[in-house]
Amino acid sequence: MGSSTIQFVLLLFVSFSLSDAQLLPPSTIPKRAGIIFDLERDPSTLQYMIKIKQGTPQSEVKLVVDLGGKLPWLSCHKGHNSSSYHPVSCSSPQCALANKPTSTLELCNGTANNACSVHMINPVTLSHRKGKLISDLVTVASNPDNQDTPVSSPRRCAFGCATTGSILSGLAKTSKGVAGLGRSSALSLVPQLAVAFRFSRIFALDLHDTNTDVKSGETGGKIYFGGGPYIHYLFGFDDLKERDLTYTPLLINPKSKEEYFVDVKSIKVHGITVPINKKLLSINKKTGTGGTKIDIRIPYTTMETRIYKAFTKAYTEWAESFNNANAELNDFLNITRVTPVAPFTTCFNSSTVPLVRMFQNNDPPGVAFIFPKSVWNISLFDMVRVNDGVDCVGFVDGGSKPKTSIVIGARQIGFLEFDISRSRLGFQQPNLREF
Ligand SMILES: *[C@@H]1O[C@H](CO)[C@@H](O)[C@H](O)[C@H]1NC(C)=O
Ligand SMILES: *[C@@H]1O[C@H](CO)[C@@H](O)[C@H](O)[C@H]1NC(C)=O
Ligand SMILES: *[C@@H]1O[C@H](CO)[C@@H](O)[C@H](O)[C@H]1NC(C)=O
Ligand SMILES: *[C@@H]1O[C@H](CO)[C@@H](O)[C@H](O)[C@H]1NC(C)=O
Ligand SMILES: *[C@@H]1O[C@H](CO)[C@@H](O)[C@H](O)[C@H]1NC(C)=O
Repeated sequence: MGSSTIQFVLLLFVSFSLSDAQLLPPSTIPKRAGIIFDLERDPSTLQYMIKIKQGTPQSEVKLVVDLGGKLPWLSCHKGHNSSSYHPVSCSSPQCALANKPTSTLELCNGTANNACSVHMINPVTLSHRKGKLISDLVTVASNPDNQDTPVSSPRRCAFGCATTGSILSGLAKTSKGVAGLGRSSALSLVPQLAVAFRFSRIFALDLHDTNTDVKSGETGGKIYFGGGPYIHYLFGFDDLKERDLTYTPLLINPKSKEEYFVDVKSIKVHGITVPINKKLLSINKKTGTGGTKIDIRIPYTTMETRIYKAFTKAYTEWAESFNNANAELNDFLNITRVTPVAPFTTCFNSSTVPLVRMFQNNDPPGVAFIFPKSVWNISLFDMVRVNDGVDCVGFVDGGSKPKTSIVIGARQIGFLEFDISRSRLGFQQPNLREF
């Protein structure tokens, strides 16, 4: 084992230095080809999963996508059955990356077989488990929908390997671990794929078609690594990159460096500014509380109770003022509130709402998140059809003392590009469902 570990460490150094494409003469820089994974949604937990092929012989495993995860990890309690896997040594650079700021001396102190020990966190239960860092081969197709696209040669990827099955509790039953896509760790799947396939640290989520039928796990959702072109498969010819994305800087929460925070300065509902205590919108650098982050594991955006109340009140006021402004048309245009359906609190008779918002082109969007230098307009994705005839404002009360004041969840994401290299978040304007 000793010699294979040394070989692996050498290999790692070589691939790290070669990955800097700027050092290569232009003719040898490979044509950029990103990686696309289909997103599957677990019907009971609503978690999104990707399928990866790993090990020798190859086996397919499903991993729950966790935007704030430090590294990808698998449950190995039934053994990790692969002839191509290497344990990562406690003295390797990868082990140091996984355990920053602990020193190598401490990492190798009293470990059996020089194995690198890592902590894994279950993003649902937040329970920690110790396990080993291993590396194994991963195979991906650069475009799973296109049979002509060659499957890549396998590349090495480091995983945490948890030896207790209980670490999987709370995760989708068919999953075997977590795909951690954190923004700061060098072992997150984003930089690992960027190094292995020589593209920049960038990924994008397309959840446009994923909310129509929550009951079936089938979604049209995709996750892209390495940048565009972002092909919208519903039509097959639509390159999202051609419609300009708008950007806002990603913030770092010093107490939660792996997560993706943005600087929401205010919120508008149908053009009306929602009154919000500004303190809630900024990150408290000492405690890490407050602010706004993106989390694909949350089905609907959550807001701290006071923000939520002001926000939903703005919706009912909008409905009233709309009805008043159209009083002579109230026989046809009369937005009507109905008994809310949990977890939502503000619902309307759908036959009185949706068309109105579509044909009035110059109507402000349902929701606008105001960033320092840009505005993210969200239209239609602000509402959720909970059953025939009832549309609800698709936001949820996040409680009176949540860690993060606003957590933008799957329903409102639409299309987002997370550009770690340039520390910015790109969104599509306007955020519309395709018809
Ligand atoms: C490991 O692989 C061997 C041969 O492919 C198979 O017979 C065995 O059942 C596998 N064990 C596990 C735990 O998957
Ligand atoms: C190694 O571990 C032993 C026992 O846990 C401890 O006493 C010692 O201080 C450790 N040494 C280092 C360098 O961390
Ligand atoms: C409009 O809806 C309200 C209830 O939301 C109702 O009281 C009122 O009678 C309706 N107006 C017309 C003209 O239908
Ligand atoms: C919605 O309004 C329509 C037309 O006024 C009515 O027939 C239907 O019963 C209402 N649905 C609900 C859920 O209130
Ligand atoms: C967002 O909505 C506002 C209000 O309707 C509008 O003025 C603005 O142009 C929109 N921005 C984009 C990029 O669509």
